[in-house]
Amino acid sequence: MDFTVLSLFPELMASFFEHGMISRGIEKELIAGHCINIRDFSTDRHNTVDDRPYGGGSGMVMKPEPLKAAILSAKKRAPESQVILMTPQGTAFNQKKAFELASNNEGLIFVCGRYEGIDERIYTTLVDEEISIGDYVMTGGELAAMVIIDSVARLIPGVLGSCESSKSDSFVDDRLEYAQYTRPEAFENSKVPDVLLSGNHEKIRLWREKSSLQRTFLKRPDLFEKTVLSAEEKTILMQWCQEIEALVRA
Ligand code: ADE
Repeated sequence: MDFTVLSLFPELMASFFEHGMISRGIEKELIAGHCINIRDFSTDRHNTVDDRPYGGGSGMVMKPEPLKAAILSAKKRAPESQVILMTPQGTAFNQKKAFELASNNEGLIFVCGRYEGIDERIYTTLVDEEISIGDYVMTGGELAAMVIIDSVARLIPGVLGSCESSKSDSFVDDRLEYAQYTRPEAFENSKVPDVLLSGNHEKIRLWREKSSLQRTFLKRPDLFEKTVLSAEEKTILMQWCQEIEALVRA
């Protein structure tokens, strides 16, 4: 999968592609990261990429010509790529969207705006999708593009160390991930639950299912509204209720 980022600060993105899991994915040739400097496509001798808004008002607007030329240049390498504009006005990014983008084998081109925004005519002609990473406004789209590339890249088979690693992630099936423990077995008066040391795979699976449900119930009960409870989940939650009841009555 090809990730291309169009930005006025390509060095920011270059450093992102050079670290951690992303750089390992690139080394393994499972993903590729390209940065394009929008300023390289300006057409005047001052390398201008922005101008005052028609109609007046504060701030500057990114000019359409350099943006169009930068997008077309990115498309030359991967013609079927999807062009995504990073903007707080876009649809909200979530894990479901990450899966959807990860299934696009052609590649993704991220357009990162700066200043007050980009010329409207780019939205309507060259952008396939607008995405926001949350209801707040940042000074540019680069951090948003990093968030999306990071969460999409880790879903591409082989990018994470173990192919199991992303299956139990939070938000897969609208549940939070279960509690995890590692050595030491005892840490500051707190012991790893016995069942995790038992080697009984079915019991461990049920314990994790319960842990995931408890965490979802306590931290993100809104997620239960998205997916109906399975028969097993209902049983586990009923048992938990009984445990709480026994505790209260004791
Ligand atoms: N650019 C500025 N703020 C943003 C946001 N919340 N999401 C995506 N791109 C942005």
